[in-house]
Amino acid sequence: MLFQILSRETGALKAFFNVTLQLDMMSAQIEKNVSLLPYNTFGIDVNTAFFSKADQVDALKESLVWAKENSVQPFILGGGSNVLLTKHLERYTIRNNIRGIEKIAEDVEHIYIKCGAGESWHQFVMYCLDHNYAGVENLALIPGLVGASPMQNIGAYGVEIKEVFHELTAVHTDSLEEVKFSNSDCAFNYRESVFKNRYKNQFVITDVTYRLNKTPHFNISYGAIQQELEKAHVTELSIRAVANAVMSIRTAKLPNPKQIGNAGSFFKNPSVSKDQYAQLKAQYPQLVAYENADQTMKLAAGWLIEQCGLKGYRKGDAGVHALQALVLVNYGTASGRDVLQVCTTVQTAVAEKFGVDLRPEVNIL
Ligand code: FAD
Ligand code: EPU
Repeated sequence: MLFQILSRETGALKAFFNVTLQLDMMSAQIEKNVSLLPYNTFGIDVNTAFFSKADQVDALKESLVWAKENSVQPFILGGGSNVLLTKHLERYTIRNNIRGIEKIAEDVEHIYIKCGAGESWHQFVMYCLDHNYAGVENLALIPGLVGASPMQNIGAYGVEIKEVFHELTAVHTDSLEEVKFSNSDCAFNYRESVFKNRYKNQFVITDVTYRLNKTPHFNISYGAIQQELEKAHVTELSIRAVANAVMSIRTAKLPNPKQIGNAGSFFKNPSVSKDQYAQLKAQYPQLVAYENADQTMKLAAGWLIEQCGLKGYRKGDAGVHALQALVLVNYGTASGRDVLQVCTTVQTAVAEKFGVDLRPEVNIL
C-alpha cells in the first residue's frame, strides 16, 4: 500500500514513490516539516521532519516500518509535557493516540484496568474516581498521556505509579515484537524506569494495566494535603476529597502550561549521602530534605535553587518560575536553547553554593 506524505506548506498531496511499502494494513498519513509547537507544553516552536498520529497498534507498527525503511529515527510523543525541544528534529515524530479503557479482571481486593497509551492520564484518574477505584487519587492533574506514565514512574504527593502498576505492552521499534513488561521488569525508581535507561528509544508503550484498590489506603501525609482537607471542611475522607485537595494545591503552585510554557519540575530532587547531608545541614539549618529507603537523603531542589537567589530569575523569555523554583518556564517566545541556558545557570549556581549536581528530569532533545 502506498504511504502518503502531506506537505503543510502546500497542503497538497504528494506521491512519495520511493517509500512504497507492501503492507496489508491501513496507510498512515505522514506529514512533512510539521511544527511541534502545539504538541509540547513548553511552547517551543521547532519542526519535526515527519509527523503522524498512530490510533492503533497496527498503524504504529506501519509507521515504525516506514521509519526503518527510510532510515529515520522515530520519536514517540505523548502529551509533550516532559520534553524540551532544543533543535529541529530530523526524526519521525509519532503521536501516540491509541485509546481505550477497559476492566479486564478483578480479585477480592483489586480491579485491573487496561488503558490505551494515548488516553489522557488525568482523564484516567477521573475515570477511577467515578468508579471508586482507589490508588491514583494523589496523582490527579499530572499532564500527559497514560503511555508515558511508566517512562519516569510518575509521582506526586507521596505516591508513584509503581504502586498501582500491573503490566504494560510495548512494541519493539526494530523487530515490532509485542513484549509484556511486569512491574519488576520496568525497574521503577524515583523518576526512572528501564525505558529511560537500558531500553531508551527501543520500545513504544501501547497499553498499561493498573491494579487499583477496592478499599482505599489513604496517603495524606505529604505536604499540605491535610491542611487542604481541613480548609475544604472534609469530615469523611474519600478518594475524591484527596484528589480535590491535590488538585487545589497543584493549581496554586504550578504554572498552567496553557498560560506559561513549562514541563513541571525541570530537575530531579538530588540524593546525597548522610554525611554530605549532615555537613550541609550544619551550614544551612533550614535545608529541606527527606530520607530515602536506601539511607541516602533527598534534598528539595526547589529550596536549593531559591537559596541561590534564582527563584523568579528571568533571561529574555526563559526563566525560573516565581512560585516554584524547580520549574523552568517559557514566558512566550523562548527557544529550547534559551531554556537550556537557564538550566545551566541554575546547575552552576547550585553546584557552586552547595556542591550538589542537579540532573534534569525533563527529556532534552
Ligand atoms: P511526553 O512529554 O510526550 O514524553 C516524555 C518521554 O516519554 C519522551 O522521551 C517520549 O519519547 C517518551 N514517551 C512518551 N510516550 C511514550 C510511549 N507510549 N512509549 C514510549 N515512549 C514514550 N511528572 C510527575 O511525575 N509528577 C508530577 O507531579 C508532574 N507534574 C507536572 C506538572 C506540569 C504543569 C507539567 C507540565 C508536567 C508535570 N510532570 C509531572 C511531567 C509530565 O507530566 C509527566 O512526565 C508525564 O508522564 C509526561 O507525559 P507525556 O505524555 O506528556 O510525555
Ligand atoms: N521549595 C522551596 N522553594 C521552592 C520550591 C520548593 O523552598 O521554590 C521547598 C519547600 O520547602 C517545599 C519543598 O521544597 O516544601 C518541596 O516542594 P514541593 O512540595 O513543591 O515539591 P517538589 O519537591 O518541588 C516534587 C515533584 C513534583 C511533585 C511534587 C509533589 C520532583 C522532581 N518533583 O516537587 O513533580 O508534583 O513533588 O509531590 O520530584 C514533576 O515531576 O514534574 C513534578 C511537578
